[in-house]
Amino acid sequence: MEKSVTKTFGILTAGGDCPGLNAAIRGVCRAAQDKYGMTVVGIANGFLGLINREARVLEPKDFSGILTRGGTILGASREKPFKDRFPYPYNLENDKVEIIKENYRQLKLDCLVVLGGNGTLATGFRLAREGLNVLGLPKTIDNDIEGTDRSFGFSSAVDIGTQAIDRLHSTATSHGRVMVLELMGHKTGWLALYSGIAGGGDIIIIPELPYDIKAIARHLDERAQDGKSFSIVVTAEGSLSAEEALMDKKERKKYRERTALPSIGYRLAKEIEEETGMETRATVLGYIQRGGMPSAADRVLATSLGTAAAELLARGEYGRMVSISGDRIDSVDLSIPAGRTKTVPENYYMLDTAISVGTCLGV
Ligand code: F6P
Repeated sequence: MEKSVTKTFGILTAGGDCPGLNAAIRGVCRAAQDKYGMTVVGIANGFLGLINREARVLEPKDFSGILTRGGTILGASREKPFKDRFPYPYNLENDKVEIIKENYRQLKLDCLVVLGGNGTLATGFRLAREGLNVLGLPKTIDNDIEGTDRSFGFSSAVDIGTQAIDRLHSTATSHGRVMVLELMGHKTGWLALYSGIAGGGDIIIIPELPYDIKAIARHLDERAQDGKSFSIVVTAEGSLSAEEALMDKKERKKYRERTALPSIGYRLAKEIEEETGMETRATVLGYIQRGGMPSAADRVLATSLGTAAAELLARGEYGRMVSISGDRIDSVDLSIPAGRTKTVPENYYMLDTAISVGTCLGV
C-alpha cells in the first residue's frame, strides 16, 4: 500500500441524482482502498444521513457491478443543513451543522467527500469553513458548475435529450406539427443547447437568451414557406420570454399562474399556436433525463474524477473540487463552485454553430 494522509473518509451523494454517480463512487473508493488502504464510510441519503448518522463502512464488494448502474447506491436527498440556520430561540442541540460536525468526529472521518451540484458544493464549502476537511466532485445533468468544463451526468442527459428529439422528428413530420420539447435546466441552457444541436432542433430556447415570440413565429413561417411542414422547438425548463425577463420573481410567478399551464413547454406551445395558427404539441421529458445508465463519456469522466479525488485524499489536499479543464483532470478551490451557476456565455461558440446551421435562438 502507498502512504496516505487520509486514513478514513466519508462519502455522500446529495441533490438530484444523475447517471455516473455510481461510476464516480467506484472511482474514488476503489482507488482509495486498493492503492492506499483507506477506510470508506458510506453515508446514506446525502446530508440527511450525516445528520442521522446513517453510515456504514463500505467493502470492496460494494463497488462491484455498479459502474454502469444509474442513480446512486448511497441514496440522495436535497437536505440543506445551513438553510434557516440560527432561528430564534437558537438551540445548539438542534443545529444540523453542529450535529454534522459531531457525527463527523464520532465517525472518525479525516475527510468528507461530497458528490453534488452547486448547492451541495456550497454546503461542502461552508462545512469546510466550519473546520471539516471536504472534497467535492461535480455532478449534475445541468452542467452548470463553475470551475469545471463538464460535470458527469451531462453527457448521458444530452444523449437522452437527443434521442427524444430524433423521435419527435418522425411524428412531427407525419402530422406536420410544431413539437415543443422541454428539457431540464432550471437556470441554464447547456442541456437544451447541446441536445438541440445534436438533434437538429429548428429553434432552441435557453434561459440565458429570453425569447421573443415574434422571432419564433417568423422563423416558423419562413420554414413553412420553404415547404417544411413541421418544426422542432427545444427549450430549457428555465427559459423565459423577453417580457418575463423584465419582471421580478413575484410578478413572474403571478403572470405565469394566470396561464394555468404547468411549465414553459406548454406555455410556449400555446403562444406559438396563438401567434402562428400552427398545430403545436408539447412534450416534457422530465426525470427520464436523469434516470438510467450513464453514457460511455460519463463513465470515463466520473471514473477519472473519482480516482483524481482519491489522489487528493492521499495527499491531504482538502477544500477542493476535482474538475476537468480541456483534457486535463485538475482541481479548484471549493469556493469557486460554491453558490455559483455557470451559465452559457454570450459569446459561446455553440450559439454561432446553431445559427450557422439555420437554427433560431428565439431572439
Ligand atoms: O439540478 C438538476 C435538475 O435536474 C434540474 O434541471 C431540475 O430543475 C431539478 O434537478 C429537478 O429536480 P428535483 O425535482 O429532484 O428537485
